Amino acid sequence: MRTLEFDNGDRLPALGLGTWQAAPGEVYQAVKTAIQLGYRHIDCAFIYGNEAEIGRALAESISEGLVSREQLWITSKLWNNCHAPEHVRPALEKTLASLQLEYLDLYLIHWPVALKHDVMVPRTADQMVSLEVQPLAATWQAMEGLADAGLCRHIGVSNFSVAKLQALLEGARRKPEMNQIELHPYLQQPAMLEFCRAHKVHLTAYSPLGSPQRPAGLRAEDEPILLQDTTVAAIAEQRGATPAQALIAWALQRGTAVIPKSVNPGRLAQNLAAAEVTLSAEDMEQLAGLDRQRRYVSGAFWAVEGSTYSLESLWDA
Ligand code: A2P
Repeated sequence: MRTLEFDNGDRLPALGLGTWQAAPGEVYQAVKTAIQLGYRHIDCAFIYGNEAEIGRALAESISEGLVSREQLWITSKLWNNCHAPEHVRPALEKTLASLQLEYLDLYLIHWPVALKHDVMVPRTADQMVSLEVQPLAATWQAMEGLADAGLCRHIGVSNFSVAKLQALLEGARRKPEMNQIELHPYLQQPAMLEFCRAHKVHLTAYSPLGSPQRPAGLRAEDEPILLQDTTVAAIAEQRGATPAQALIAWALQRGTAVIPKSVNPGRLAQNLAAAEVTLSAEDMEQLAGLDRQRRYVSGAFWAVEGSTYSLESLWDA
């Protein structure tokens, strides 16, 4: 298994398990099965609403001797309604309690978007807080405090543009060590890869299979289906792999971490086995040609009318 190395020598197993939309009722078994199969990196978030169930699976797997805490890499994310510095530590403590852990390996600011504390998902502009009023730099200082306190070993961000990452790096006492973003052959983000390589920030690819399970409200009518792409299918067939495995192998070979979500035992095993798939330079070149800047998770839900947020301000594009 490939690993990504951090400045302090810690190593993140590059292939992990995504848990967005892994419903309570199925995610417990999925995490237990994943750990039995050999997954050691589990990606979580408060807003996924399933951390308590994941926590039960982690605690049981550890107490049964399947795995030790030190062998696991657990990531979670700060929700947008806890950006005010005084809410950051309580948010992590809640996540730790749900996950039944004493520390996280990695804690991320989930989105560069702030919400009022009693709001989970905004419907109106007055439920949002602008980044002028609640600056990301202030949230970041509180994140640095969590790492100082040993509540998480590493801190980073998610859904940050190069411009926002750059701004954060300039004022940071501890640098963001990870940016978790949507990455797949239809959204390759080469400038982000280059920037992160130059500044030693790791990347994690979310929705690596094109997020086929997204709720209807997050879908566009004309969208291309990544898992049905003919180039991906042809390369997969040549390598004796499935299209999903080819997509995961592509992400690994670009030097990123990747977190395909599954709750199905067969697909969990299949996805983990993608770590053994090798794509040739020619395969990688052909896949590079598929880029079409297609975001499946567009962030449109933050562009609430009358707020300071828009797709342009979110992605700085
Ligand atoms: P399931 O959980 O039933 O396996 P992404 O990580 O891009 O968001 O994609 C996750 C979606 O892709 C889920 O709907 C998941 O369904 C499905 N999926 C996961 N692994 C595979 C696979 N190997 N082949 C096809 N679909 C998969």
